Amino acid sequence: MASLTVRQLDDKLKRLLRLRAARHGRSMEDEVRVILRQAATETAREDLIGPPNPADEPQARPQVSAPTPPRQDVGAQPELRRPQVIADQRPRVLLIVGGGIAAYKSLDLIRRLQDRGIHVRCILTAAAQHFITPLAAGALCGEHVHTDLFDPRSEFDVGHIRLARDTDLIVVAPATADLMAKTAGGHADDLASAVLLATNRPILMAPAMNPLMWAARATKRNLAQLIADGVRIVGPNTGEMAERGEAGLGRMAEPLEIVTAAEPLLRAPGPLTGRRVLVTSGPTSEPIDPVRFIANRSSGKQGHAIATAAAAAGADVVLISGPVNLPDPPGMTVIKVETARQMLEAAEKALPVDVAIFAAAVADWRTERPSDSKIKKQQGQAPVLKLVENPDILSTIAHRKSGRPRLVIGFAAETDDVIANAQAKLAKKGSDWILANDVSPETGIMGGDSNTIHLVSAAGIEDWPPQTKDDVARRLVQRIVNELGKPSGSSKP
Ligand code: CTP
Repeated sequence: MASLTVRQLDDKLKRLLRLRAARHGRSMEDEVRVILRQAATETAREDLIGPPNPADEPQARPQVSAPTPPRQDVGAQPELRRPQVIADQRPRVLLIVGGGIAAYKSLDLIRRLQDRGIHVRCILTAAAQHFITPLAAGALCGEHVHTDLFDPRSEFDVGHIRLARDTDLIVVAPATADLMAKTAGGHADDLASAVLLATNRPILMAPAMNPLMWAARATKRNLAQLIADGVRIVGPNTGEMAERGEAGLGRMAEPLEIVTAAEPLLRAPGPLTGRRVLVTSGPTSEPIDPVRFIANRSSGKQGHAIATAAAAAGADVVLISGPVNLPDPPGMTVIKVETARQMLEAAEKALPVDVAIFAAAVADWRTERPSDSKIKKQQGQAPVLKLVENPDILSTIAHRKSGRPRLVIGFAAETDDVIANAQAKLAKKGSDWILANDVSPETGIMGGDSNTIHLVSAAGIEDWPPQTKDDVARRLVQRIVNELGKPSGSSKP
């Protein structure tokens, strides 16, 4: 029915449809199905429960941080009485679990991917089902697990073809020697191999096998072929094998390593694709004793918003965060620290980066010697805390002789003489730009959702209107994109 509809369209509409389908990575027929289903469900929604709520409207792909309702498969029947948001914006991974002892780690991998806001669909090979059950994988995925090339219950109209394409990335974990050989040879005699042959999406394999199998010439040949075909490989690692007394290269990469390898492959290209951005965020806390610490009122909202906006623009983001009450933004590496010295160490480890943005409210001082045990009250005697200065992270990175980021951006949290103090910080800290804000209590900026920024640079001062911290973040990212587009050496906004 869908192909009849396409044929009857005029050429201009067909061209638009082709473009839309290509943008979404679907066939024209699939695109028509999506459009028809959206229209039908919306009509049903209006008939049954009134006009649509604008808040339900789908947003642009791909980096969406908040958990979203489950994806409604294109081939599934819509439930008219409970209309759902049709376009699930989450990045999608199809996880193929091969038959090896490491399959149990794939259950953890499902969780880890979901923690990053990624929708996971799962295929178990026949061999994988000796190690884990479709029930366990299905319970974690929250949907039917696919096991059979000719499954009559599959909601996918052309089975493996739809499974192969209705995803952003295929992850094979564990990738057994057999599954690697089949993929390298183009076999398609079960669901997993047929999907791997039929896909036009990137493939990431996490090999896991006995060290002798990994070292075998045949495996080496297959690996070389897979790499030449564009398959990405993560691991294997060295370690103990399932077989008693055996150790060597062949352990599957840990789930977090696989997630780290998968994330860049899920990112849609944006103006910061290929750029690495470091962001510090939140307060630091400096221990006094095991139960007390020196802290400040920073919420981390502005730094986290900047990291999110940079990731949405395609950057490879490292967010170094002090203790905050915010969820980890998905699609980036989040490193959690407590003290200023830990934050500096993490920032130096994250180098080289193209851009470094220091939004953290770093404690200027720490106690010289935190007590190992809780300091007890002594009648009439308040303890005296000796404070020593913390390293200045922004200044340390900005003054590096080698490996200085091309663009170094700091903040100036001020309560008086905002601009003059920001200009002094720009010079003293060696920053390219300073985003100055007035953090006096009456502004509500510390911990609040909006901010009023003055961008201070060698070129002058630019006053931004009051706006949400998310808007500040997007505006800053746009500035960064413009800046990186200029020949290096210039830092004028
Ligand atoms: N900063 C830093 N390391 C520190 C202190 C500050 O990286 N130890 C960074 C902040 O992340 C911010 C900039 O320096 O980007 C300015 O921080 P701010 O708190 O405004 O100023 P301070 O340098 O702490 O100076 P003062 O408290 O005297 O205003």
